[in-house]
Amino acid sequence: MTRQQIRIVLGLDDTPKSYVNIVPYLRSPLPPPIDPTTDAPVRPEALTRIFAKECVRQEVSQQKTIPIPDEVREAMIRFGRPTPLQRAYGLEKMLKTPARIYYKREDVSPTGSHKTNTALAQCYYAMKEGVERYTTETGAGQWGSAVALACSYFGLEAMIYMVRISYEQKAYRGTLMRLYGAKVVPSPSQNTEFGRRLNREQPGHPGSLGIAISEALEDALGSQNTKYTLGSVLNHVLLHQTVIGQEAKQQLNLIDTKPDYVVGCVGGGSNFAGLSYPFIADPRFKDTEFIAAESDACPKLTHGEYRYDFGDTAGLTPKLKMYTLGANFIPPKIHAGGLRYHGSAPTLSALIQEGRVRPLAYNQVDALNAGALFARTEGIVPAPESSHAIKAVVDLALEAKERGEERSILFNLSGHGHFDMTAYDSLMDGTLSGESMAT
Ligand SMILES: Cc1ncc(COP(=O)(O)O)c(C=O)c1O
Repeated sequence: MTRQQIRIVLGLDDTPKSYVNIVPYLRSPLPPPIDPTTDAPVRPEALTRIFAKECVRQEVSQQKTIPIPDEVREAMIRFGRPTPLQRAYGLEKMLKTPARIYYKREDVSPTGSHKTNTALAQCYYAMKEGVERYTTETGAGQWGSAVALACSYFGLEAMIYMVRISYEQKAYRGTLMRLYGAKVVPSPSQNTEFGRRLNREQPGHPGSLGIAISEALEDALGSQNTKYTLGSVLNHVLLHQTVIGQEAKQQLNLIDTKPDYVVGCVGGGSNFAGLSYPFIADPRFKDTEFIAAESDACPKLTHGEYRYDFGDTAGLTPKLKMYTLGANFIPPKIHAGGLRYHGSAPTLSALIQEGRVRPLAYNQVDALNAGALFARTEGIVPAPESSHAIKAVVDLALEAKERGEERSILFNLSGHGHFDMTAYDSLMDGTLSGESMAT
């Protein structure tokens, strides 16, 4: 074991100063969002009723890099950037693999995941233009926690619609958001027309991310001085996450390593993009393979269609060109709430179309077993979402062992699972179900 590789840390001043925009690096122009009533591209100005103006500017930007405001960079440093890159010696030893496994520790954020990176940026831009209240959805609660903290930091009110099944499975996530000062309701809720209708049709409806997005949008559109913030999928959100990959590049460079594989899990695509896009945009990494690990209970990348679809269930958003299972798809109640989204980021979908990213789907039982192995060998309990990436990494490491190849694998530990103990409880007591889309 070389001591220098246990944990590779950067100085606070090494926190990136700009975001990397993947759009100009795509081989074909990115299909624009379209207005569902006319099928014409949506004018950016129309989006500013919903999103902060600077976020809309970034959404349509063709610039290769976009500067990070000093206040956002300071906030990211306050809340843990740059994050460490760690070598998974324990996991490697247990697997008896010649592969070297490195993981980027987004779990060290105080809210527990990478989501804080974009929450801070979006709240800053909203605060600067005078917005007083943000609404949003959350699945597993990681995004809601990040928005709650970022709103409190920049002085905004936060209203969070949390998918009911996750609200029940992860009750303390709600507590954390309220502790940061946010209002949280289970979705479908009684706050919106759409939520009340679903509750009437199916009392105790488990909810989905698509439904919670519809509720948060309805609230924002009907309220004063309120905008909506999204935690994944859109270009500007993925852009904000590229601080992760830029740091990882610096860290791997310090130990003279180029990854053979870069792996991340995919809900909407933001943590995968955050880690991988700075590598994909850099021709020095043309031989690296990029692997997007999704849930087989919500397998839009491996089993969905590449077409225009709504981002939410009620059809309030513009249509996006993406891999989708259909906006009405309600995924089985897996514990990785953040992977229960019917669609995927347009930029990630385009990269998959171009054959530059390989999607793979995993069952939650296999994923949580890999997560439990990681906990035992590395001491960190991964979020159930991140466990899907770990399952992909374990498979790659075992493949390398079989072939006797010394591969290097980089993955994003997108979050910790300290609020996900019911998932690991049911894994250990043997009641965890392996529901996939087909079952
Ligand atoms: C820890 C964690 N990882 C991954 C995801 C999936 O989202 P994304 O694909 O946008 O990174 C989530 C979403 O809530 C999450 O909380």
